[in-house]
Amino acid sequence: MAEAPSAAWDVYARTAPTRRAVNSRGEKTWFNWTQHADHGPGAEVLGLGAGGKAVDLGCGSGGNAAHLARLGMRAVGVDLSARQLARARERWGETGGVEWVERDALDWLTAGPGGWDAVYSVFGAAWFTDPELLAPTVYAGLRDGGVFAFSHRPPVEGCYGRQAAFIPRGEGEDPAVVTRWDHPPETWCELLQGCGYKDVTATVIPPPEQGPRRAGTLLVRGVRGAGSRAG
Ligand SMILES: C[S@@+](CC[C@H](N)C(=O)[O-])C[C@H]1O[C@@H](n2cnc3c(N)ncnc32)[C@H](O)[C@@H]1O
Repeated sequence: MAEAPSAAWDVYARTAPTRRAVNSRGEKTWFNWTQHADHGPGAEVLGLGAGGKAVDLGCGSGGNAAHLARLGMRAVGVDLSARQLARARERWGETGGVEWVERDALDWLTAGPGGWDAVYSVFGAAWFTDPELLAPTVYAGLRDGGVFAFSHRPPVEGCYGRQAAFIPRGEGEDPAVVTRWDHPPETWCELLQGCGYKDVTATVIPPPEQGPRRAGTLLVRGVRGAGSRAG
């Protein structure tokens, strides 16, 4: 029988990278859409004003949600891994304005209150949930003008749609397996536009010029149009 996704992500939590205490600018919190340190755009992508309400789908150890809270916004970090959320609570437990929820992202959004100013995901649940289900559900949960944005690795050329992703478990053990959805930028644009999103962009943020890691980061963004609803 297949392993539950929460158990697979608990495996990941054992070895997941830990955010540094401070970044290169000496800041204790920051927003990073990419897999590279001190790189790429920040929270401004979300277009949040003071007191704005945001949801992080697959928040992991919570650094991005904690940053929004420190900026004076309200953030909900949703993650199905108890171990990941334990890391978030341990690191950011003293930070007001952020709530941690242990739940599948799609289930929580479907049942949630809606009216969000922004819903985002950084290498998170938006990569590991069928976008045909998630994108319209996010749309329904956003206020008019609200932003949906997510990032992850760009697809490997020709490897599109539902893919197996392997999480190393340990020497001599089979990896945990989860599924993710990879698409080229133009497919993401069509998919979001088909749900009613406006001003849709899907771009690859180039990697830093220096350093051994050469993969960029795909960043997809769309805005809920005023008065419209996903079909
Ligand atoms: C690669 S980690 C990224 C964590 C975090 N966003 C970051 O940037 O460090 C992926 C996270 O998404 C969570 N996740 C995957 N599928 C999910 C789902 N369907 N619902 C909620 N969380 C999910 C995992 O538990 C894990 O914490």
